[in-house]
Amino acid sequence: MTETIEVGMLGFGTVGSGVITRLRQAASKIEQTQGLRLHLAAVAVHHLNAPRAVELPIGTRLTDSIQSVVSDPHIQIVIEVMGTLTTAEAAISTALQHGKSVITANKDLIATAGARLIALAKRQHCDLFYEASVAGGIPILRTLTDSYATDSVSQVVGIINGTANYILSVMTATGQSYQQALTAAQAAGYAESDPTNDVSGLDTSYKLMILSHFAFGQALTLSQIQPIGLTAITAIECQQAAQAGYHLKLLAEAQQQAGQLYCRVAPVAVPNQSALSRVNGVQNGVAVTSQAIGHSLYTGPGAGSTATANSVLNDVLVAAQHLGQPACGTAFNRNQAQLSVRSLSQTVQRYLLFTKLSTITIEKCANNRHFSITGQTRNCYESSPITPTQLADFIRLCGHKAVTALPIAFSTDWALTAKRQTSSKPVAREIVKLA
Ligand SMILES: NC(=O)c1ccc[n+]([C@@H]2O[C@H](COP(=O)([O-])OP(=O)(O)OC[C@H]3O[C@@H](n4cnc5c(N)ncnc54)[C@H](OP(=O)(O)O)[C@@H]3O)[C@@H](O)[C@H]2O)c1
Repeated sequence: MTETIEVGMLGFGTVGSGVITRLRQAASKIEQTQGLRLHLAAVAVHHLNAPRAVELPIGTRLTDSIQSVVSDPHIQIVIEVMGTLTTAEAAISTALQHGKSVITANKDLIATAGARLIALAKRQHCDLFYEASVAGGIPILRTLTDSYATDSVSQVVGIINGTANYILSVMTATGQSYQQALTAAQAAGYAESDPTNDVSGLDTSYKLMILSHFAFGQALTLSQIQPIGLTAITAIECQQAAQAGYHLKLLAEAQQQAGQLYCRVAPVAVPNQSALSRVNGVQNGVAVTSQAIGHSLYTGPGAGSTATANSVLNDVLVAAQHLGQPACGTAFNRNQAQLSVRSLSQTVQRYLLFTKLSTITIEKCANNRHFSITGQTRNCYESSPITPTQLADFIRLCGHKAVTALPIAFSTDWALTAKRQTSSKPVAREIVKLA
């Protein structure tokens, strides 16, 4: 027998339109496989008379009153796809207080106010799911929660901002400047008119904060991540890196090592041998390393109307199956740990160095700081593993604006890092001025 579930939705933009399209296209499959019919009772928007990309189902109420949706006694599940922070938090809180399960795609909100909302959902015995908040169309959160339930994740590395990845891919492929590539991304609808969150690494950090919780049970804060964006990267550096066998990517990284969690969001040189180097354009990719499975890579669309809506609707189906069951109110992520958090930039690792200084000068500077470099292509060199202190001294010696150093992904020497952390011996730091 088919059961009808009453659903309310907040927002009717890119994702909201996709939800309506997918609801229509998948209705018979949902009924056949789940025994459910999802009835969209009401949709709340900001501008009641704005033109809409898709038609509402017959009988769905369009309103500009969020309150009328989140407190409607007939609505059992609320989908929040409007974005915003304060308005969305208030709306989700009210829906949960009224005993409704909530599905959201809002990573900014989950990263910053997730703990409050998760605690409220638990108290109210309601589900709160947010699969679409990380990597849009890739079902990575439920995969980590369900398919890694007995496994132990040691590393999660992601390209999880399509706008940033598109810009770096265009700069590498065409030699266009950052500004030209950003304009191309905006023209193609891949970047917002204000791209700050995407290019500064903030959006990637929010997603890493959520991913880390699922992968390691450890919540991260923005101050622990301290993201570095991509605005200082030049097309010449992208192309020199490509010639040297690397792709520059805005990576989100979290790695568990000896009871510590090392994290970073920054532009990083990804070796061509790594499958992540081939995740191009607006595509997203999340590489997971774990004890039982080993290496796995999940790639797909990190955004987009119907791909993101698919993640939203899968959450709706799980919440619908939980209604009235003891499972309702079980936290989406049940992985909890207490790890001390460090920055991956504090480890001993290799760097790709870009400079117009002569090879002799750059070699002298490296020798002075007791490490070696190998020339990759003209004006681009690879360092041996070095400490953050060696790197800082080397850059000071070369002249601050004379060299750009980007970490090489997966190049941390953990044995040297551990030795450095346990070593009590002070490091000699005199810098010999070069002639
Ligand atoms: N776009 C993607 O591919 C994608 C992927 C993953 C996650 N997300 C997340 O999904 C959420 C929605 O993104 P989107 O791209 O669909 O946004 P969008 O296209 O800008 O649509 C936002 C919708 O919310 C409505 N809205 C905004 N403020 C409102 C308010 N105060 N009261 C009532 N309605 C309000 C808007 O109403 P009007 O239309 O009347 O203005 C609009 O329909 C965001 O949290 C985003 O981060 C998006």
